[in-house]
Amino acid sequence: MGEVAYGSLASVYEWLVPDAKASPTGKAQAFEMVTAALDPGAQILDCACGIGLLAVGLAEAGFRVTACDASPAMVERTQGLARAHGVEVSTRVCRWDQLPDQGWQDRFDAVFCVGNSLAHAVGRSGRRAALEGMAFVLAADGVLALTSRNWEQVRSAGSRLDVWDRLVERAGRKAGACQVVCVSGYGDGG
Ligand SMILES: C[S@@+](CC[C@H](N)C(=O)[O-])C[C@H]1O[C@@H](n2cnc3c(N)ncnc32)[C@H](O)[C@@H]1O
Repeated sequence: MGEVAYGSLASVYEWLVPDAKASPTGKAQAFEMVTAALDPGAQILDCACGIGLLAVGLAEAGFRVTACDASPAMVERTQGLARAHGVEVSTRVCRWDQLPDQGWQDRFDAVFCVGNSLAHAVGRSGRRAALEGMAFVLAADGVLALTSRNWEQVRSAGSRLDVWDRLVERAGRKAGACQVVCVSGYGDGG
């Protein structure tokens, strides 16, 4: 699922986010074990920013934040969220393999690629190009924060439809929550 699919997911992406990480504050808190080691005002790049929850949460916490994503629609949502929260987040549309060509003024103290994003790099060469891009923009003593699902665990449970007995609420709207898992891929739905 690449930038094209995320173009259409962008407008509803908050329905795929668990409650605890559905706000900028909650999303940034989830990564306090990383940010606690950074200097106040450190320069951070979120290179798979999605709808901007982490980027805006980190900016609210006082970091200097740049956010990029391959999907223009996701970057637009990040810009809107930053405006709504009154924080400055520098944004651009950029794939991981394009990170070295962006003419950044400085290297970053931390690079985040979270929310199971790297899974979208295609094949071994795609993952290598993505990681090389992230390494290129990282300061020598910088931190790369990368999260991935435990795919062995997901696959071992097989294809299934999980229907949760609770409602998810976003912006005052409620919906039943379910998760569709196919062993050859995955999809989450709310
Ligand atoms: C699962 S979402 C995670 C978004 C966000 N990090 C979060 O935690 O909610 C994956 C994100 O990676 C972006 N993405 C996919 N392929 C990419 C690539 N090659 N370069 C940069 N971003 C990419 C998608 O557009 C999407 O916003």
